[in-house]
This record gives sequence, structure tokens and C-alpha cells, in this order.
Amino acid sequence: MKRTILFVDDEPNILMGLKRMLRPMRDKWDMLFAGSGAEGLTIMAAQHVDAVVSDMRMPGMDGPEFLRRVMKEHPDTIRFALSGYSDQQIIGESIAPTHQYLTKPCEEKQLVEALEQAMDARELVPNKSVLDKIARIEHLPVLPDVYNRITNELAKGDPSPKLIGDIVARDVGMSANILKLVNSAYFGLPRHIAAPQQAVIVLGVNVIRSVILSLHIFKSFEDRVRQSFSLPMLWGHSMRVAAIARSIAAHEFKNKDDSDHAYIAALLHDVGKLLLDAHCQNECERIYEIVRTENRRVADVEAELLGLTHAEVGAYLLGLWGLPTAVVAAVARHHDAKPTTRDMDVSAIVYFANLLDHEIFVFHEHYARIEPAPARLEAVGGMAKYEAWKNGVLSLNLGGEESQ
Ligand SMILES: [Fe+2]
Ligand SMILES: [Fe+2]
Repeated sequence: MKRTILFVDDEPNILMGLKRMLRPMRDKWDMLFAGSGAEGLTIMAAQHVDAVVSDMRMPGMDGPEFLRRVMKEHPDTIRFALSGYSDQQIIGESIAPTHQYLTKPCEEKQLVEALEQAMDARELVPNKSVLDKIARIEHLPVLPDVYNRITNELAKGDPSPKLIGDIVARDVGMSANILKLVNSAYFGLPRHIAAPQQAVIVLGVNVIRSVILSLHIFKSFEDRVRQSFSLPMLWGHSMRVAAIARSIAAHEFKNKDDSDHAYIAALLHDVGKLLLDAHCQNECERIYEIVRTENRRVADVEAELLGLTHAEVGAYLLGLWGLPTAVVAAVARHHDAKPTTRDMDVSAIVYFANLLDHEIFVFHEHYARIEPAPARLEAVGGMAKYEAWKNGVLSLNLGGEESQ
């Protein structure tokens, strides 16, 4: 089925340029164009729109106001802001109703990929309750500025590690945190990394970008979670699961993209817990109370009480942010007992990395010990494979790492 996308901009030249640039998408998208927010809302009142892409500075109703109206009146519609770079900085995080910012001028590839991946998230997470829940959250965290800048450089071509390192280095606080992290036991690097540029060379742009995202998400929830669970514990767990996923991927994957995706998905696999804790506080307290007193799994109790799980919520958010499909799918399925294929894939690695961390490092007397699901074990080669991975993880020396 064709997807419908509405572009809103007060400058006719920009709309003309978008129309011309996106002509190759005519078979997949129905594209609508509006010269103002008011015109955009009139169009949306008459027909369903899957995603809007709006300018920020417009006379009359400006972009933030338009997107806020879209959020209230059409919460299912995905909301993108397309703005000049300075606008983005001025507006910053004050615009809650935006799922993603794109910067003008935006390359065709970047725009198409960002929109398609965000719209795909709906298919990867088909649970309607997740969509309703996310649609009602006014203050979703937004992607950090450094992350957006790196994404823009990646869209232009193959940026040098120096260029990416320079972008990271401009954010002094972020680069200090990154260096602290990459020099920790979670990464187990043989030598000390002294500069962000060096970190990019050693770990690659995609890993650095995901570390930035992870640091940013945890930071943005620092004051918001009521801590029905411990934030430092979840941080330590996420870092270890990522390190474990990397160690398994090094044995199982030949392809660098697959390894990167496994690392990124593992690092972010539980972000849905943060979102739920911040936005469903009473229910979450009840959920964790049941988990503790009845010795049950968090995801099972969430499904029972909320009709959704943190895995689905996290995956949907990452999808809206345009993370790769393999990452979104792996996050969505990290508690699923059934494999999708018999092959080793990113989702399998993340599933087992999470279990191994629970088995080896997370000691919590009240939490149910999770056994690997037989179908998933069989799909990756049985208990012998699991034990081999476990031995690999035990040699990583992750246990003594202080949580952050
Ligand atoms: Fe989880
Ligand atoms: Fe987990």
C-alpha cells in the first residue's frame, strides 16, 4: 500500500525542490504539499497522512505549533522537522512534538531512508497499544545534536574519522564521557584512547554514534525516572550486554554491519524501560512489585498489566528515530521465545547476550532466572553453542566494572 506524506513549507521553491527531488518515490508514496500549517491541517482533516515533514519558521502558524496540533489531532502521524541548522539549535529540545529533525538542504537518500525507516517501525512493532502509548507522550526524548551532525556527515558520503572525531570533540562533556567509557573494561581495549578521533578509528563511526545516543538517553532520563528500578544498574546491564553481543558477534558474523547492529541493539535493548518508568509511573511500580514478590519476568508482567512490553516500546522509539531495521527488530524481540528464522541473526545475538548477562552478572534475588527458550537455542546450534559463548563472556572480565 502506498504511504502518504505531507510536506509543509511556506517557501514555494523549497516545496518545488522537494517535489523534483522525490519524483523517483512516486510509485511508493503519495506526496502532498502545503504552503502553510493551516493548509496542512485542512489536508489532514480530509485524509489520512502517515508522516508530515514540516518547516520550522513559517509566518502565522509556525512549525512547532503545527506539529503540536498534528500530535493532538492526528497522534498516529509521524512528525519530522526539516529546518535550517540554526533553527534547530535555537529550537533545540523545546520542541517535544518532533520525532526527528532533518537539516536543510537534505539529500534525497537521507530523507527517503529516514522517512521509510520511521514508517517501517509501525510494521516491526505491530502492537497498537505501543503506538497509542507513544503517541500520547508529549515529551519524547529527541536525538542529540552531536548524533544529528554525525548522521548528516554520513549521509554526504564516507566521512573521515578525523571529521567525526572533531564533531564529537566540540561537545566537551560528551567527549569526556565517551573517552571514560571506551577506556573502561566494557570495551576491553588493549591501549588507552586519548582523543575522540582515535576512538572513532578504533571502534568505528556506528559504534561511537550509538554510544553517544545511549549516553544521551540515560542522561535525559536521569531526573525523570522514579526508579522503580535502579538507573545505574540498568546502565551497567546495557553496557555489559553490548560487550557480550560484540564478543558473540566476533565469532558468528563476518559482516561488519551485522556486528555493529548487534552491538547497537544490545546497548539500547532496554531503553523502553526508561520510557515506561517515566511515563507510566504508577503502573511500573506495581509491575516491579509483582516481579519482586512473585518472582516473575518484567516483560511478562508488563504484557499482562499494560498490554505491551518495554521491548516493543523501545523498538518503536528507535524506529521513529530512524535506527536500522535490524536494530529495531532485535530490540523488539529481545524477550521473544520464538526465533524468526533458524539462522543466526542480530536478534538472536541480542536475545542471548541479555540472557548471558542475567545468568553471569545480574544477581538479584527477587528476579526470575530466565532460561534460554528451547526454540531459540535450537535455532543457533543448541546448548553447546550457548556454553561456548558463555565461556567467551567469562573471559571478558566484565564483572568487576563499576556501574555508571
Ligand atoms: Fe529487556
Ligand atoms: Fe535486558
